[in-house]
Amino acid sequence: MTQPMIQPEAVSISNAVRTLNVALNERSYPIFIGSELSLIEYLLPHVSSRQVMIVSNDVVAPLYLERYVQALNSAGKTVASCILPDGEAYKTLDSLKLVFDALMQHRFNRDCTVLALGGGVVGDMAGFAAASFQRGVDFIQVPTTLLSQVDSSVGGKTGVNHPLGKNMIGAFKQPKLVLADMSLLSTLPDRELSAGLAEVIKYALIGDVEFLGWLESNVDGLMKRDSQLLAEAVFRSCQHKARIVAADEHEQGDRALLNLGHTFGHAIESFMGYGEWLHGEAVATGMLMAADLSARLGWILNEDVARIRRLLFAAKLPVVVPNIGSDAFLSLMGQDKKVLDGQLRLVLLKKMGQAIITKEFDFQLLLQTLQNKEPGLEVV
Ligand code: NAD
Ligand code: GLY
Repeated sequence: MTQPMIQPEAVSISNAVRTLNVALNERSYPIFIGSELSLIEYLLPHVSSRQVMIVSNDVVAPLYLERYVQALNSAGKTVASCILPDGEAYKTLDSLKLVFDALMQHRFNRDCTVLALGGGVVGDMAGFAAASFQRGVDFIQVPTTLLSQVDSSVGGKTGVNHPLGKNMIGAFKQPKLVLADMSLLSTLPDRELSAGLAEVIKYALIGDVEFLGWLESNVDGLMKRDSQLLAEAVFRSCQHKARIVAADEHEQGDRALLNLGHTFGHAIESFMGYGEWLHGEAVATGMLMAADLSARLGWILNEDVARIRRLLFAAKLPVVVPNIGSDAFLSLMGQDKKVLDGQLRLVLLKKMGQAIITKEFDFQLLLQTLQNKEPGLEVV
């Protein structure tokens, strides 16, 4: 008799709320995934401190802050909030200081919790504040974008940007809990939903060809925000992220697979000017370029590249590479932090659903991808 496949991170499925465990010994934590999650059941038992600082932004707070304040107040917690200006442009040390100011002004002590209520920008900043305030306090993630639910809220990377580089100042700080509530996604702008789907598709391309098929069958429902489909996509994505993080918390090895599409994508983001393309959009086109190069190397088929393009297109993601030119592209990629020892390492597809990190590729083929020589890409 064949044994059922056991997913080691999957702990339980109850009342349509699914639980994953990020297995990091004494720093292990649960991810609860569902819709309209009960805060009494899923949040309050995990808040051990009396003081809770909610960090959010001026878009998310008017929509969702009150519910969290009320739930925490009803449990006798002392709650304060710090509302940051919205946007990547404010992911700075100046904004971080606002969080420290709020913590100090409200006389928060070492035994407090910082709760991030927002997308990846808020989560990264609140996490860094939690990592450094009084040398580290408890941290909880309530991610409100699809991207933050499937990626940034899990794994403990936190930080802010420096004017000369993105995410250059930060720390690893694992949360105590991640609450991924699909109902929060109802207000998310369409473009942000698509950007999050790019990261979901990334997990399928890296390590789960069956998930790729599932996404192809369900992309229309995901785009219509069917909450059960979204919960399934978040669950499967977080399963992959939890497994990769548990095996390589500090990115000494396989965690870098999560950067599929990012080296090309960062170059596109930087060429277009930050904010012009969303990160997930640039990653989507970057994944297509990685697939194109993988096909030129003979690792996957041109039909596989076409398949990836169709899925990205169905998720309303850009599938046309901006006309950057190979020289400019190379120099923008050379600035990427994944250039180690002067040698460019890329995450490529050894086959569909199996990514590798490699510097073993023919540079001429990379140039063909950057120049968009037939077959895989289209450039404007
Ligand atoms: P974001 O946090 O800027 O959110 C996108 C936009 O959606 C913002 O305008 C935000 O205010 C708004 N928003 C958020 N939730 C909403 C909701 N429920 N309803 C309506 N509007 C909502 O962007 P993001 O894509 O969530 O995150 C991107 C950031 O995450 C980048 O700074 C990136 O560096 C970081 N990131 C970090 C990691 C990590 O491992 N720590 C991984 C990936 C990305
Ligand atoms: N988003 C990449 C990582 O968490 O490692």
